[in-house]
Amino acid sequence: MAVLVVVIVACLGFCICLALLKWNEIRYNRRKGLPPGTMGWPVLGETTEFLKHGPSFMKKQRAKYGSLFKTHFLGCPTVVSMDPELNRYILMNEGKGLVPGYPQSMLDILGKRNIAAVHGAAHKRIRGSLLSLIGPHVIKDELLPKIGNFMTSFLENWNGKTIDIQETTNEMALLISFKQIVEKAPSSLYEIFKPEFDKLLVGTISLPINMPGTSYHHGFQGRKRIVKMLKQIMEQRRASSIAYDDMLYCLLHSKDSKYNLSDEEIIDQIITILYSGYETVSTTSMMAVKYLHDHPKALEELREEHLEIRKKKKPGEAVHWDDYKSMSFTRAVIFETSRLATVVNGLLRKTTEDMVLNGFTIPKGWKIYVYTREINYDPFLYPEPLTFNPWRWLDKNLESHNYCFIFGGGSRLCPGKELGLLQVSIFLHYFVTSYRWEEVGRNEIHQFPRVEAPKGLHIRISNYHA
Ligand code: HEM
Repeated sequence: MAVLVVVIVACLGFCICLALLKWNEIRYNRRKGLPPGTMGWPVLGETTEFLKHGPSFMKKQRAKYGSLFKTHFLGCPTVVSMDPELNRYILMNEGKGLVPGYPQSMLDILGKRNIAAVHGAAHKRIRGSLLSLIGPHVIKDELLPKIGNFMTSFLENWNGKTIDIQETTNEMALLISFKQIVEKAPSSLYEIFKPEFDKLLVGTISLPINMPGTSYHHGFQGRKRIVKMLKQIMEQRRASSIAYDDMLYCLLHSKDSKYNLSDEEIIDQIITILYSGYETVSTTSMMAVKYLHDHPKALEELREEHLEIRKKKKPGEAVHWDDYKSMSFTRAVIFETSRLATVVNGLLRKTTEDMVLNGFTIPKGWKIYVYTREINYDPFLYPEPLTFNPWRWLDKNLESHNYCFIFGGGSRLCPGKELGLLQVSIFLHYFVTSYRWEEVGRNEIHQFPRVEAPKGLHIRISNYHA
């Protein structure tokens, strides 16, 4: 009898599941002209398949439905584009109603005036203000010497230590931006700031359930405390007549009236700088260390490039702009690292009106996932795509080919691209000229949805004697 009940319940459960799936398909198929694809479960959609099997799920769907297909993930009906030409079109045409589509839950934590939350004229103004802080001239004249100083002291006394390079580059990426923003902040302030910022970061990529105990809730609390700290610093700055040499000073005393930001905008701008350059720079630095360790020939060539620069200098002399510009193999290593590790899998957009893309109708308000990951492994663009081959990037045309979206494209092209490349380059400069290293134990690295070493990436460090 008990067995019969179990069988009946199981059959019923199965039928309900099938009915729910079918109902969801019928609901969306009522609309004419949508791309092919499946919508999964009501509300949940195909989020679990996407998060669990990301790249293989995408390839499976593309094989069935083509390179533009519909799905439902992260709470929204979404169209995935794996078509390089269409991806380019989408990124280049924000003006035609293809605006950033990052989840509202993420934007609520990053702030209403965050660059990804604003479009049109407001975006132009916020982006202009950002470029006045991290644009090419500022990098060359002001940020390079600061980054050099930071790296020399950050990398001091590593000889003989075993470190988790994931944790270390994570610390490095946040601290370096923090110091560019508030130059003379005491380290005790940073000690309070970092854990709160980490909560904020985790909150932006968590399930948006705002209840005590959830990561999302912690994210909001992190934001609240960060905002409070920044407001206090801004008050102190306004009460002082000292001309600080940092980004906050420039934000509070903008030379160009176009870029006079409100307090709310200044706070969101600071959060943007810290957030955007955090995981990107730390993961790229960690993976560069990993790939260089595994590819001694590349390490040898990279080290030669940096020893050549050091040879021309007195001990302890800083790296200058011309030295940085001569680091062509280093730049190639960073591009190859970003390509092979795929630090950014794709970019989210949404439609502001119904529109036709590749012959299909995309309804107003739907998300478009511009999935750029697969382009990084295209064998026509990158022969033997799974091989770490930095030499391929010595052909400068590769960086600027039409489908290189490592730093995005169009009006949202990463404004921190050169700053990010510089930070990783200067880190590598001091790291490879001061030390050698070997991996300790077996360090697993997950590639999706984020590149991370769940138990850390441990390396033993010793002095490098040329
Ligand atoms: C290796 C390092 C980096 C990588 C791979 C990277 C990648 C990207 C990508 C792919 C986008 C496009 C996002 C989109 O279109 O939706 C982007 C945008 C952005 N990045 Fe970076 N980034 C890096 C470093 C940085 C740094 C150091 C900053 C410092 C501020 C930064 C600030 C930004 C900002 C503010 C945006 C948004 C631009 C806009 O909406 O107009 N990034 N980045």
